[in-house]
Amino acid sequence: MVSALGVAVVGFGWMGRVHTQAYLRLPHHFPGLSLRPRLVAVADEVPGRAEEAAARYGFATAARDWREIAADPRVRAVSIAAPNHLHREIGTAMAEAGKHIWIEKPVGLTAEDARAVAEAAAGAGVQGTVGFNYRNAPAVAAARELIATGEIGAVTHVRVRLFSDYAAHPEAALTWRYERERGGSGVLGDLASHGVDLARFLLGEIESLAADTARFVPERARPTGATAGHARAAGGELGPVENEDYVSCLLRFSSGARGVLEACRVSVGEQNNYGFEIHGTKGAVFWDFRRMGELGVSRGTAYQDQSVTTVYVGPGHGEYAAFQPGSANSMGYDDLKVIEAYHFLRSIEEGTAYGATLEDAVRSAAVLDAMARSAERGTWASPA
Ligand SMILES: NC(=O)c1ccc[n+]([C@@H]2O[C@H](COP(=O)([O-])OP(=O)(O)OC[C@H]3O[C@@H](n4cnc5c(N)ncnc54)[C@H](O)[C@@H]3O)[C@@H](O)[C@H]2O)c1
Repeated sequence: MVSALGVAVVGFGWMGRVHTQAYLRLPHHFPGLSLRPRLVAVADEVPGRAEEAAARYGFATAARDWREIAADPRVRAVSIAAPNHLHREIGTAMAEAGKHIWIEKPVGLTAEDARAVAEAAAGAGVQGTVGFNYRNAPAVAAARELIATGEIGAVTHVRVRLFSDYAAHPEAALTWRYERERGGSGVLGDLASHGVDLARFLLGEIESLAADTARFVPERARPTGATAGHARAAGGELGPVENEDYVSCLLRFSSGARGVLEACRVSVGEQNNYGFEIHGTKGAVFWDFRRMGELGVSRGTAYQDQSVTTVYVGPGHGEYAAFQPGSANSMGYDDLKVIEAYHFLRSIEEGTAYGATLEDAVRSAAVLDAMARSAERGTWASPA
């Protein structure tokens, strides 16, 4: 029997919209779920933004203050898609109010913030799903299986890359993302957090690391009005960019594997160039988000001159079958969020975590904190 689950969304910028669309599409792709999201409430501090979202997507109620959602008994699950500095306060309040939470990465400004949210959820007995969407790509699931079953031998080394140009334009507005107080770290929390999650998901824990960070654009113009996503501002008063644009990092995994992670938000000529190359003693596996359904795989017994073939993911890889019946039909970013919504609702339905959890967010944030420490001190560091 299908029953309704009252859901709410806090913060209706880019991610708020993507979560909402995922809730609406969920029953189309995963009809077997016995819970069906019902859009009960949306909150955003920008006047009119929540009302606009309600009119467009069908939320029953719109508010400016997220506390109204915490107090609303119709709401059983909440998407937290507000800026990073609010994750801890909103996440703990929602959990303590008995609401399951689907919260965007990086879950606060520090590992301590992520831990506070994780502890609140555990204490209240509610489920917590985190927006590490790239691990939901069926090709990433296939790569994980390939590695786990020993198809490429023992993993020796890996490169994880996340290059973007979203902050490359000199007129990219000085939004919350560039402030310590509201954004926390820069590219570390924004992009490297995804890379760390992918690395952990595929290869296990990171034991120690040595990082270097840089800020290439020191000042930006303050926006004159409300922003969402990566807005532009020109001619306004300039303010300092307080966090890093770039990180490069050497990684040592508990398994003994070595790695390099590089992430940058001001890479001209790079748009969502996210991916990994993983090498093992017998083979290798390559993935590029921009060709999400393809996996480069080298396997066999040749060692030298061993060919690389392209595997098109299909039914049987991750949740691909919920979208298309045959291989090589393209999926998109939004589909990864539908899979995340599925993990969230399935966790609630079964009372067991599926997909990226708050504990994953804590582990990822501990690695990011170690990167910041390492870069500051110029020494190797270990995640606490
Ligand atoms: N998983 C991903 O791929 C991904 C991608 C982008 C952003 N994110 C994460 O999602 C979160 C939001 O990012 P975004 O790009 O959607 O940002 P955004 O700036 O587009 O949207 C944030 C929204 O939150 C609203 N807001 C601010 N303060 C609020 C408050 N007190 N109460 C209610 N609403 C408030 C803003 O008005 C805005 O509409 C961040 O934590 C970010 O790191 C994740």
